[in-house]
Amino acid sequence: MKRPFEHVALIGTGVLGTQIAMLSAYAGYKVSIYDIKEGAFDETYDKLFADLKAKVANPFIPWDDWAKCKSRITFTTKIADALKDADLVVEAITENVEIKRKVFKLMNENAPARAIFATNSSSLPVSRMEESSGRPERCINTHFYLPLQGMNMADLMAGTKTLPDVMQKGEQWLRSLGVVPLRVKKEMLGFCFNSVWRAVKKQTLSMWANDVADFQDIDRAWRIFTGMKAGPFGLMDAVGLDTVHNIEMVYYNDSKDPKDKPPDALEEKINKGELGVKSGKGFYTYPNPEFLQPDFLDPKK
Ligand SMILES: NC(=O)c1ccc[n+]([C@@H]2O[C@H](COP(=O)([O-])OP(=O)(O)OC[C@H]3O[C@@H](n4cnc5c(N)ncnc54)[C@H](O)[C@@H]3O)[C@@H](O)[C@H]2O)c1
Repeated sequence: MKRPFEHVALIGTGVLGTQIAMLSAYAGYKVSIYDIKEGAFDETYDKLFADLKAKVANPFIPWDDWAKCKSRITFTTKIADALKDADLVVEAITENVEIKRKVFKLMNENAPARAIFATNSSSLPVSRMEESSGRPERCINTHFYLPLQGMNMADLMAGTKTLPDVMQKGEQWLRSLGVVPLRVKKEMLGFCFNSVWRAVKKQTLSMWANDVADFQDIDRAWRIFTGMKAGPFGLMDAVGLDTVHNIEMVYYNDSKDPKDKPPDALEEKINKGELGVKSGKGFYTYPNPEFLQPDFLDPKK
């Protein structure tokens, strides 16, 4: 697939930014990255590598190509250096609209006028950040789903002023990465598949927090029913429990409906540093979580 441009810059190289940077490098783009935390990319890369090695037989990027892709990514501690030649800037920082607005302003100050701005936010429409960007006609949502684990799809959604050509370039970029674009035709909180996934998270977290069922049994049911390798709790660990919590808070702050508030028990886990794969413990313990043990689905166990 033809590349619509050459240089992709990433802001924020946690769980998702690292994966998008790796995918872009694998597809042949020049990639530069910036994170306020020095070493964030290396740290996430090592954790992802160990986690996926334990779980995935045929990863999206073949194991032999990981180091090569990593070596093609330029890390800088100065945002200006990361953005100065960018055709596309992807924001993948913490899920907080105020911080994202500040970062969109910085992106505008440091990127060329031609650059498209994409947010990987899991819940915020880009229309909530576009005014800070100084270029609302060049802003899009591109929301990825853990692509290196083989979830090669991404929501693609316009802001209120996005030009058709910008949407088209976003779509071409996703396709060139080997990612299926899920085109959202009307602005919606939660986009396309994330709205479905949100309903699953809300229900399963509530069942766990109210002690209706053990999280392992919910994951067993999901795995047997769908044939997937992980259930909702294994998936939430991979996403990061702090990120899950931040996303639920976006919906809650929007609706103010107490039913949308994430359970206190989730916050308690986060306060103990149990963030999922990235901290070595969430619902499960990593890198060898219980749900990957051979007897997890054994009826005789
Ligand atoms: N984790 C997932 O599965 C997932 C999936 C799809 C989308 N998302 C979205 O992607 C975004 C990032 O999520 P994540 O899970 O990768 O988070 P994360 O916590 O793993 O990483 C966030 C990174 O952003 C950096 N950061 C924070 N503020 C910054 C700033 N002002 N400038 C530069 N860097 C900054 C942090 O140091 C960290 O490395 C969020 O908007 C989230 O909703 C996450």
